Amino acid sequence: MRILAIESSCDETSASVIEGSRGIVLTAALRGNEGETSAAVIEGGRLSVLTPALRGNEGETSASVLESGRLSVLTPALRGNEGETSAAVSPRILSNIVLSQDEIHAPYGGVVPELASRQHLKSIAPVVAESLAQAGCGAGDIDAFAVTQGPGLIGSLLVGISFAKGLAYVFNKPLVGVDHVQAHIEAAFLEHPETPLPALALIVSGGHTSLFLLRERLRLELLGRTRDDAAGEALDKIAKFLDLGYPGGPVIQRLAEAGDPEAFRFVLPRMSDRSLDFSFSGLKTAALRHIRESGLTKDHPRLPDFLASFEAAVTKSLIGNLLRAAERVDPKSLILCGGVARNQRLRTRFEAAARSRGLAWAVPSGKLCTDNAAMVGALALSKFEAGEPVPPALELDAYPRRPAAERFIR
Ligand code: KG4
Ligand code: ZN
Repeated sequence: MRILAIESSCDETSASVIEGSRGIVLTAALRGNEGETSAAVIEGGRLSVLTPALRGNEGETSASVLESGRLSVLTPALRGNEGETSAAVSPRILSNIVLSQDEIHAPYGGVVPELASRQHLKSIAPVVAESLAQAGCGAGDIDAFAVTQGPGLIGSLLVGISFAKGLAYVFNKPLVGVDHVQAHIEAAFLEHPETPLPALALIVSGGHTSLFLLRERLRLELLGRTRDDAAGEALDKIAKFLDLGYPGGPVIQRLAEAGDPEAFRFVLPRMSDRSLDFSFSGLKTAALRHIRESGLTKDHPRLPDFLASFEAAVTKSLIGNLLRAAERVDPKSLILCGGVARNQRLRTRFEAAARSRGLAWAVPSGKLCTDNAAMVGALALSKFEAGEPVPPALELDAYPRRPAAERFIR
């Protein structure tokens, strides 16, 4: 099944074609010898998997498949009968085009909603066309369309949704609406499908900083969220204040590399109740005080030390909360995702935290952390696989925030 996905919730216009064999029956020709088996898997008439190593038990078979030297099929459920086998295969990203609007918003140090939606209007058709061209297919070859419904900037979301509805209507194919936050988490499963459940997911982006428990793959239970700024937003605001450029996260990471993370002291926020919520407004105020007291500017020699210390404080606060949550809910794995998950200091600390607790972990590769449509397509595929109902395309609507009724577990 091929899905064309569109993501336009904030300041990136993105389209992706993703191909999933999950839920689709593959027919395989199997020749088994003792211990060793070779198989040819034919998918849609195309020979796609050549040398799997198969270990068969009664009725059930598990396989790892090497495709051009890369382990590409991880946990297929194979039911082998003589000559006939069906398998589930990880999705393949055929294209993932992301057109950033950074240059448009940079002069303002943050996203200007009206400019964002106008730019999406200009970009959406060429971005979708490019994603199809790179995937080597036409819109008629697409089996279903997917689009981000929310949360995000309402004007930007509506551009993507309207375009996707048009495609679904013209080509008479289903349209799956997906949640942006859930899609960020799905990006981790896309590359690490073996991540065990229950999983504790920390999503850190420019608009969100939240902790979710996933007892089941497609059910998010909110454990905590920021009470004020998102972590990425705090990084962006400090970069804006120092006139370093937009978005602030990547600039801060680059300039902080040469800095000493212990040089400036930050007191980490602590919630007075047992809450697993985050807060970054206190760290931001402390950062502004350091800037004023030390007379820090763009060219100040202590700027790298300050940025390294601020980045480290944000990281410590995130990881601290993640580990407190882990103690409470006892997950089997930890997931880190969202745009700020591109940050190297955060990735390193996160991995160390997971290792020290003996937990499995998953972080998407850089391009799948920041906003992109491949994660949207991946989530749509998983929803199809789970048999979730798909409402009529033209009924789909945008939502600026996640539903308030979201269940908190404490
Ligand atoms: O997920 P995302 O692309 O958009 C939202 O859903 O908000 O995240 C964007 C955020 C921005 O705040 C940006 O500064 C931050 O991700 N970011 C980073 C890095 N790359 C992007 N923050 C820290 N280090 C990075 N390398
Ligand atoms: Zn995002």
